[in-house]
Amino acid sequence: GKVRAPTHIISTISDDRGEEPCYAGVPMSSIIEQGYGVGDVISLLWFKRSLPRYCTKFIEICIMLCADHGPCVSGAHNSIVTARAGKDLVSSLVSGLLTIGPRFGGAIDDAARYFKDACDRNLTPYEFVEGMKKKGIRVPGIGHRIKSRDNRDKRVELLQKFARSNFPAVKYMEYAVQVETYTLSKANNLVMNVDGAIGSLFLDLLAGSGMFTKQEIDEIVQIGYLNGLFVLARSIGLIGHTFDQKRLKQPLYRHPWEDVLYTK
Ligand code: ACO
Ligand code: LMR
Repeated sequence: GKVRAPTHIISTISDDRGEEPCYAGVPMSSIIEQGYGVGDVISLLWFKRSLPRYCTKFIEICIMLCADHGPCVSGAHNSIVTARAGKDLVSSLVSGLLTIGPRFGGAIDDAARYFKDACDRNLTPYEFVEGMKKKGIRVPGIGHRIKSRDNRDKRVELLQKFARSNFPAVKYMEYAVQVETYTLSKANNLVMNVDGAIGSLFLDLLAGSGMFTKQEIDEIVQIGYLNGLFVLARSIGLIGHTFDQKRLKQPLYRHPWEDVLYTK
């Protein structure tokens, strides 16, 4: 009989062996002919299924809204400094990407994890927030350096507005809003940030689409897919900042002495 040699790699998302490449079984020609967008491609390659249009539109809105936030944030700053040190595009891009983490842009998965756990356990916002405080953990998805009660993050508002009119239910988002109401009673800058909005709304997307089992949702949250949205989105801006510095022929960056507190 035939002997099947063991393979060194298992892959389930794409196949390039036929006449045309397929993403999750969908041939490239269908992707183009049916007018799929980048949200559809993400849903095929990350979630291995075609999601309804409102879901892929939501993914695309996340990508567009998180593409950039000016030159002063950690990621852009790193990319700018790296480009000005004469480094190439990929080095400048990854230098910026490496700042994405628990404080900056990479709090989406933890926001989804903690909001899901707290909401599923019916914790009141008070119990949840004070419980986190006791554990010494900042609530992921809450807080911002420049946004506050009177200067809300427009991106959060836009995401919530889209979900309210397109998602079948926004249970986790409403929970996150209640948490925000409580944290705002403690301090003005403890607003829901874009990571918190995407984290909570993606839980609603996964649960409301009817396309995922409970186990699949748990796996997505546990593996941590959602920071990928910010990484992908912000790459657009970081690449833009790199080109911008090169176009402007900016010299090597050196931070001014006056802006450093030299102390023992
Ligand atoms: N949960 C609970 N308390 C908080 C939180 C939070 N998420 N954020 C701030 N505080 C409180 C703390 O008591 C903090 O005091 P501490 O330093 O003794 O812990 C106090 O507010 C002071 O905070 P600030 O100095 O005003 O906050 P900072 O500007 O340093 O931090 C940051 C902003 C990093 C976003 C912070 O709020 C945080 O860690 N949030 C959670 C992580 C997160 O969601 N990051 C994504 C931000 S959005 C983005 O990057 C695209
Ligand atoms: C961002 O999207 O980069 C911001 O929310 C972070 C910031 O401090 O503005």
